[in-house]
Amino acid sequence: MHLFGDVSGKKLLEICCGSGHSLKYHADRNAAELWGVDISHKQIENAEALLKKHGYTARFICSPMEADLDIPVNYFDYVYSIYGIGWTTDLPGTFKKIASYLKKDGVFIFSWHHTLYYCVAWSCSERKNIIERDGLVFTRSYFDESYFRMPVDGSEIVLCNRKISTYINALAQAGFAIEQMVEQTDKETMESTGDISDKAKKAKMLPLSFCIKARKQ
Ligand SMILES: C[S@@+](CC[C@H](N)C(=O)[O-])C[C@H]1O[C@@H](n2cnc3c(N)ncnc32)[C@H](O)[C@@H]1O
Repeated sequence: MHLFGDVSGKKLLEICCGSGHSLKYHADRNAAELWGVDISHKQIENAEALLKKHGYTARFICSPMEADLDIPVNYFDYVYSIYGIGWTTDLPGTFKKIASYLKKDGVFIFSWHHTLYYCVAWSCSERKNIIERDGLVFTRSYFDESYFRMPVDGSEIVLCNRKISTYINALAQAGFAIEQMVEQTDKETMESTGDISDKAKKAKMLPLSFCIKARKQ
C-alpha cells in the first residue's frame, strides 16, 4: 500500500515482529536500524535466524508489548505492527508507549482484523442435503468489547473485538494524528466470480482488516 515510503537510513521498530519477515522486507530496503519485540521466544528465534540467514542484524526483545521495555525514547522514525496490536490487553497504554519510542513527527503504522469481521457471519440453511448460504447476519454486537474465546488450529485464543472508534480515540489520546485509514479488499478478490470461498465472498461485502497510518504530534 506504499504507506511507508522510502525507509532507507531510517530507524524502525516492529511490535509483535513474529517470524521477522517484515523486518527483512525493510532490511532489503536499506533501513538503518531494525528492532523487533515479540512475546514468543520461538518467534524471536525464527526472526533472528531469518535475518542472520540474509546477512542482516536486528535488535530483538522478547517481552509483552504492554511491559516497560528497554527501548530508547524519541528515537524511531517508524514504529509498526502487522496483525499484532489487537493482542494488547492495554490499548491506551500500548499506544502511549509506542508514541514515546517515536521521534516527533515519527510514523506509526498498524493493521488488525476489522471489527466487523467478528460480528458478521454467514447464515446457512440445508435443503436436500445441500448447505446454502442465505446471507450475512450479525452474530455479535459491534459495541461488545468483552473478551471471547475462539478455536484456532486445535487450540483456543482469547481476544476482544474493539470498535474502530476505540482505536481512533486511543491514538488521539496518545498524541497521534491519523493520516490515513485503509479499509479495503484487494482488487483480485473484489473482481473474483464463480466458485469462490466463503471468506472471499464475505471480503467482497465488508473489510476483513483495517490499517492506520498515524503521526506523532
Ligand atoms: C499474527 S503474528 C504477526 C507477526 C508479524 N507481524 C508478521 O507480520 O509476520 C502476531 C504476533 O504477535 C505476538 N504477540 C501476541 N501477543 C503479544 C504481546 N502481548 N506482546 C508482544 N507480542 C505479542 C505473537 O507471538 C505473534 O508472533
